[in-house]
Amino acid sequence: SRQWRGVLREYADRLNVSDATPVITLGEGGTPLIPAAALSARTGARVWVKFEGMNPTGSFKDRGMTMAISKAVEHGAKAVICASTGNTSASAAAYATHAGITAAVLVPEGKIAMGKLSQAVAHNAQLLQVQGNFDDCLDIARDLAANYPVHLVNSVNPDRIEGQKTAAFEIVEVLEDAPDFHIVPVGNAGNYTAYFRGYSEELERGATTKLPRMFGFQAAGSAPIVLGHPVKNPDTIASAIRIGKPASWEFALDAREVSDGFFGAIDDTRILEAHRILSAEVGIFVEPASAISVAGLLEQADAGAIPAGATVVLTVTGHGLKDPQWALRTADGSEVQPIVVPVDTTAIADVLGLARA
Ligand code: F0G
Repeated sequence: SRQWRGVLREYADRLNVSDATPVITLGEGGTPLIPAAALSARTGARVWVKFEGMNPTGSFKDRGMTMAISKAVEHGAKAVICASTGNTSASAAAYATHAGITAAVLVPEGKIAMGKLSQAVAHNAQLLQVQGNFDDCLDIARDLAANYPVHLVNSVNPDRIEGQKTAAFEIVEVLEDAPDFHIVPVGNAGNYTAYFRGYSEELERGATTKLPRMFGFQAAGSAPIVLGHPVKNPDTIASAIRIGKPASWEFALDAREVSDGFFGAIDDTRILEAHRILSAEVGIFVEPASAISVAGLLEQADAGAIPAGATVVLTVTGHGLKDPQWALRTADGSEVQPIVVPVDTTAIADVLGLARA
């Protein structure tokens, strides 16, 4: 038996690495592609969910981070920096500490989920809460990397996109072709760009017959690509994608053009509704930003944009345990109160509605 070796080793021949590149890995990639019968039934499409919450730090960022940190170490970096809405900081902190180097992370004060903050702290990052939003943090991280001895590991670093494209390789391996549609949440649009690149390479080498139509969704209060202009004070409960000035905006517009893709905006109510559908009907627990893929699918299927029988892959980007509070609210916003029962079998059977056999 052998275990999955992480994306750098599994895809060494298809990534920009050489024998001189150290492999800094926590075993990322190799995540499940899960058929979602409940979503297929709701839409008439054949729906698969790529569950990226199954990566070592609980998000897709690890695919890019193994690459970015390995290359940083190859080039002698002793310290890395990133701006983050949470997941990048958790991933950078884990991979940097694994490599024996320092990570500094800039996050918007009070605006990242508790699980992610805990990870960055646990993995010994220098965590600074900046009194601004994500876009401010990214501007400063870029500025620091340009002028101080610290290596930038945000997705503006091409090594990140390079590592993240491997998710498309894994999907093609399972489906034995590209899907008809691929749906992702969009913040900086780095991941949208990475999937497009991965699928393009698969088409080029003849492993697939087509490119998927790339559909990306932003939260309605943070939808600069949909609106066509930056958003100064982006807002949404999906804190991971609360971004007003996407770093990979231009790449994403190209990818949409070439793939006959689409960008849409989804409001927070619909995001939370999709979050409930995915956890309660499919059995996959994600953070709110990830649920936007499901919301986008349901919206587009309702609008008649997804033909019956089409193969659709949804990427869900981050684990539900990162930001679990949303599961404990009902659709009308009230707190879920788990039922309290006495230590009594009959009483519990009664509450469960079980009749004695
Ligand atoms: N989903 C999750 C869970 C994310 O954390 C992010 C981005 C995205 C989707 C969007 O990906 O930016 O490539 O379009 N999170 C970054 C971070 C910004 O700092 O963790 P994107």
